[in-house]
Amino acid sequence: MKTPNEPHFDNGAPFSSGGLIIRQQEPKNLEAPFVPIESYLTPTELFYIRSHFSTPDLDQASYQLRIEGAVKHPYSLSYDDLRSMPSEKRIATLECAGNGRVFLVPQVQGAQWELGAVSTAEWTGVPLRALLERAGLEGDACEIVLEGADRGTPKEEPRPPEPISYAWSLPRAKAIAPEVLIAYAMNGRELPRDHGFPVRAIVPGHYGMASVKWLTRIMAVRQPFHGYWLTSDYAYWDSMDGRPVRRALGEMQLKSEIARPRVYQALPADRIYTVSGAAWAGETDVIEIEVSTDGGQTWADAEFLDPVRRHAWRRWKFDWLTPKKPGQYTLLSRAKDGGGRVQPREHDQNYGVYVINHSLPIEVFVVDSAGQ
Ligand code: MTE
Repeated sequence: MKTPNEPHFDNGAPFSSGGLIIRQQEPKNLEAPFVPIESYLTPTELFYIRSHFSTPDLDQASYQLRIEGAVKHPYSLSYDDLRSMPSEKRIATLECAGNGRVFLVPQVQGAQWELGAVSTAEWTGVPLRALLERAGLEGDACEIVLEGADRGTPKEEPRPPEPISYAWSLPRAKAIAPEVLIAYAMNGRELPRDHGFPVRAIVPGHYGMASVKWLTRIMAVRQPFHGYWLTSDYAYWDSMDGRPVRRALGEMQLKSEIARPRVYQALPADRIYTVSGAAWAGETDVIEIEVSTDGGQTWADAEFLDPVRRHAWRRWKFDWLTPKKPGQYTLLSRAKDGGGRVQPREHDQNYGVYVINHSLPIEVFVVDSAGQ
């Protein structure tokens, strides 16, 4: 039997949870059942899917990846060319910036993600840095734009004047960081269509929108790229000299979630119940995790099940002796990182419908054990 703190690397591991939860049928937006305790790596078929347009139909034989813009030697790569380059494997947690949106009060627009727009996989690919080195990145290139093959017109206002492709731009420093991969495999097998087949970017530490799927173009630019996705959609209000300015989202913020129990689950009184979940961060490490069973008045240390691994979640557990008194109780978890940051209690309104990283309340009912 597998111990819970051993990462599983086999995709086909027996898995007791149900399938993905539909948030939108087309384009596909499917949520993972949030049960990290069952497997450190999310089985590929249960990894959440977040797509803005229909899945494009690409095939390996005709696939081409173009590397151009502010580079000395623009070039194209075939799928086989990419596969023949030295590759690396990285474990990374991807979280959609809208994960947890259903917890916002009052209710907001957008897919009503609960806890499961976050998953972890082992990715195989070529560092983006190696592709850029081969192209001879110009010294004045400030960003690297990653473009996918999917196209369409976004439904939300303000709409762009014509159909656009999905594209995201990375600051140069992040683009050449060793962890950023141009990936062709997920959990040891080729990428499934909905996860970017045949090739996608994986940008560990940044919200999922940066990990561009169906990647067909990498373009170095000399001016910041203000495309639709970085300005109208995945953007937030920052402040510059006391004035609000719009900036693109980037680094994932420190967060933990409770996977077990579920909201409104009934638990027997005066018994040990193991609360469990996962915690993750962007460019820092989660080093402490606490649980409150009284709505945040008091906190107790929980126990990590996984070691620190930059850019990947750590599962945790907490043995709770449930109260003798039946009633409604509010559970919260709170992560701390190596930089002294603490997971917040409230959502920061400047992030709008994104970055929902505050402690999410899980209400449960403690019921008379005799009634169980
Ligand atoms: N890449 C393309 N080409 N088109 C998309 O719609 N969605 C992004 C990102 N890459 C998207 C994309 C978003 S918002 C997220 S959260 C992640 O893909 C989700 O990756 P997954 O579907 O493999 O979980």
